[in-house]
Amino acid sequence: MCGIVGYIGSRNAADVLIDGLRRLEYRGYDSAGIAAQNGAGIHIEKRAGRIDALAEALRARPLFGTAGIAHTRWATHGAPTDANAHPHTDCAGRISVVHNGIVENFQELKRELAQAGHRFRSETDSEVLAHLIEEAWGRTGDPLEAVRAALGRVRGSYAVAVLFEAHPGLLIAARRESPLVVGLGDGEYLVASDAPAVVPHTREILVLDDGELARIDRTGVRLFDMRGNEVEKRPLRVDWDPEEAEKGGFEHFMIKEIHEQPAALRRALAGRIAPEENGAGSPAALRVDLAEAGWSAEAIRAFRKVYLVACGTAHHAGLVGKRLLEAATDLDVAAELASEFRYGEPRVGPAALVIAVSQSGETADTLAAVKEAKLRGARVLAVTNVVGSSLARAADYVLYTHAGPEIAVASTKAYLTQLACLGLVALYVGRVRGTLSKERERELAAALERLPALVEQVIRAVEPKARELARRWQDARDLFYIGRGLDYAVAREGQLKVKEIAYVHAEALAAGELKHGTLALIEEGVPVVALATQRPLVDKTLSNIQEVAARGGDVVALALEDCPRREALEETAREVWYLPAVPAELAPVLAAVPLQLFAYHMAKARGLDVDKPRNLAKSVTVE
Ligand code: F6R
Repeated sequence: MCGIVGYIGSRNAADVLIDGLRRLEYRGYDSAGIAAQNGAGIHIEKRAGRIDALAEALRARPLFGTAGIAHTRWATHGAPTDANAHPHTDCAGRISVVHNGIVENFQELKRELAQAGHRFRSETDSEVLAHLIEEAWGRTGDPLEAVRAALGRVRGSYAVAVLFEAHPGLLIAARRESPLVVGLGDGEYLVASDAPAVVPHTREILVLDDGELARIDRTGVRLFDMRGNEVEKRPLRVDWDPEEAEKGGFEHFMIKEIHEQPAALRRALAGRIAPEENGAGSPAALRVDLAEAGWSAEAIRAFRKVYLVACGTAHHAGLVGKRLLEAATDLDVAAELASEFRYGEPRVGPAALVIAVSQSGETADTLAAVKEAKLRGARVLAVTNVVGSSLARAADYVLYTHAGPEIAVASTKAYLTQLACLGLVALYVGRVRGTLSKERERELAAALERLPALVEQVIRAVEPKARELARRWQDARDLFYIGRGLDYAVAREGQLKVKEIAYVHAEALAAGELKHGTLALIEEGVPVVALATQRPLVDKTLSNIQEVAARGGDVVALALEDCPRREALEETAREVWYLPAVPAELAPVLAAVPLQLFAYHMAKARGLDVDKPRNLAKSVTVE
């Protein structure tokens, strides 16, 4: 976790850095700090609490200087206090460091450094870096060498940015297993954990690879590996609109991102569904093309088994992806939690395709699962939102979701685009393997194309109902979400949303499982969301809704407009919210939206910090 930003240029660094920190605040928000360098040295301001507390302190005591580094923290070692906030310094206060990651051997290093006379001021693992660099700088006198030598002693993960008082206008940065990009501006340079902090200033970025260091001054950037060899690298262009990383009139990022879903879906589908080359006369049918992912038809035909690995919301997308792939192909498909993947005995070998789904592309558990799969010879397809992320670089094949920057901690538009991309993958793999009929491919491809407009329609129709329901249920102690098949997968996502931002206990159940135990918890007034979008399963789900209603449960049902048992559903549930008719495989994309809106309004009704829920961070780069 944590976000780091650095700046070298001709503007006042603190202004650029505080803005950058706000854009990275989703990565951690329990304390923040800035170091700015000018001719008179390096000056630091840091504060426990949100970035506003730091901004307030800077108004009273501004920092001046055209070079600087900054940090927003999500505590792992040491409480969120002023002293534990970054930047950290060496004994003499001549070297300042910000760090994202975990120094796993910090206790050994700290003991050794303390014995050598170093004085520590914080309880963090990160502070050892400042002292290690101080030691190495004393020996070499060269900043790049000092950082390189210090990092050579570290076990664990890091993205760091370092300033030296004796070298004004110079910034050294490095990474291993924590993300870091360098923004190439006009006579100015930025480093940041993630692109949103950079895009307002430049779209040209260099993505550092593991074990790389950057030496940045106002004349340019030079990259080196850990052996000291210079590395050449071509910049990437980020196509995000900086506006997308701002709230643009919405009260929270989450609601803005929910409303951005139609546009995000359009981007996710763009260029991937095209009219088929057809003979004269017949209307052009649609077909999916995902050759861009870099996989050959031969490779796709050779797979025998697919594992979808992911965490949290991305795992819930994986659960949907499993059903879609099973329906369109002859493959065995498993959807696994990335954090558990290594503890079983997955039969992953050269005939397996591992599809790793991750918004950030930096989730440590997902990266670890991918590493394990690669060791066993599997091929990896990354489905990720972040260009140049660690996952994208570790994978054999990459499919970007193009959701645009997702800032709210609760994932919404990334999830919907993951569903769309997994739908595309299922259709493409099915076609290449010859297991999907042409008619089915055309029907589903055409339905996929309609989704952005339908999601727009759902948002408009459902938002007032979701707001109203949140008022009615705002004091609920428990919430239950039930559904069968794909509805169960969506129920899992619905319950996670409400838990993480509204802090209400919620549970998703396969509707058929209720009677095997949990039904005992249903009594008068207990809120239950029942998903009934899967036409062939509606009859059975309806029976489960009846079981709940008979015990006084307060049921709100979600169904498609052309639901087979409309009347019975309306008689049994207190409310039925209808969604536009689509093929059942794609119903999750529509059904998720009311659940997101409800969770959002529930958190708001309960007066909570929607975008930054307690104890969580956007990018989970620790296992
Ligand atoms: C929940 C949420 C998390 C993430 C999970 C994986 O709203 O956002 O559950 O889905 O931490 O993150 P990524 O997709 O970045 O790998």
